[in-house]
Amino acid sequence: MSEHVLLIGGSGMLSGSAQQLNEDGFYITVVARDANRLEVLKKTSLYPEKIATVSLDYTNVDQFRRDITQVIQVCPVHKVIAWFHKEGHTSLQHMCDDIAQHQEEEWELIHVKGSSSAHPANNFSLSVPSSCLYKEVILGFKEEQGHRRWLTHSEISDGVYKALHSKQNLLVVGLLEDLK
Ligand SMILES: NC(=O)c1ccc[n+]([C@@H]2O[C@H](COP(=O)([O-])OP(=O)(O)OC[C@H]3O[C@@H](n4cnc5c(N)ncnc54)[C@H](OP(=O)(O)O)[C@@H]3O)[C@@H](O)[C@H]2O)c1
Repeated sequence: MSEHVLLIGGSGMLSGSAQQLNEDGFYITVVARDANRLEVLKKTSLYPEKIATVSLDYTNVDQFRRDITQVIQVCPVHKVIAWFHKEGHTSLQHMCDDIAQHQEEEWELIHVKGSSSAHPANNFSLSVPSSCLYKEVILGFKEEQGHRRWLTHSEISDGVYKALHSKQNLLVVGLLEDLK
């Protein structure tokens, strides 16, 4: 059976990761609010039958927990790629606890963070269950001809894909400010 990847916030800058995983044969569940964008992602994938979409708002904690628990109960997750804004951190913690509670299988969390949320002063401390292998992907910036720019979507998706296949627990995409 294909491994199941849960991709939270996967219809925007991480849609390239969803497409790559789909091409590799993973079964993916993509979560975001806008059902139309999710539908476009599914329709433009190589194997649409291997993509499930769940339209929900992760700031609605109770609904999020119900829907994610249902997803896990239908099919245990092997990898979770999580791109949450700050207002979703409570849901992120519940998701980790709920997965640990509802499935016996070990799983991997790839936690994607912006450079500011990765700064020690702003960092949210996630309690990671023992069944989970935790990896962090921190998004930085690129410097080109003396100018800074944000990462492109494909640079971000490629970084996440690299983290999935890496044994390292921390991957920085691009450059970071000195985090002192
Ligand atoms: N280098 C850095 O530090 C850094 C950090 C962050 C972002 N960026 C740049 O900023 C750009 C945009 O960032 P972005 O966060 O808007 O990325 P995005 O990936 O384009 O959008 C966020 C994703 O999360 C979903 N989402 C947002 N709020 C949600 C909610 N409450 N519940 C469920 N799903 C939700 C969105 O879909 P829905 O809207 O349909 O829900 C979408 O799939 C990116 O292009 C990136 O280059 C850079």
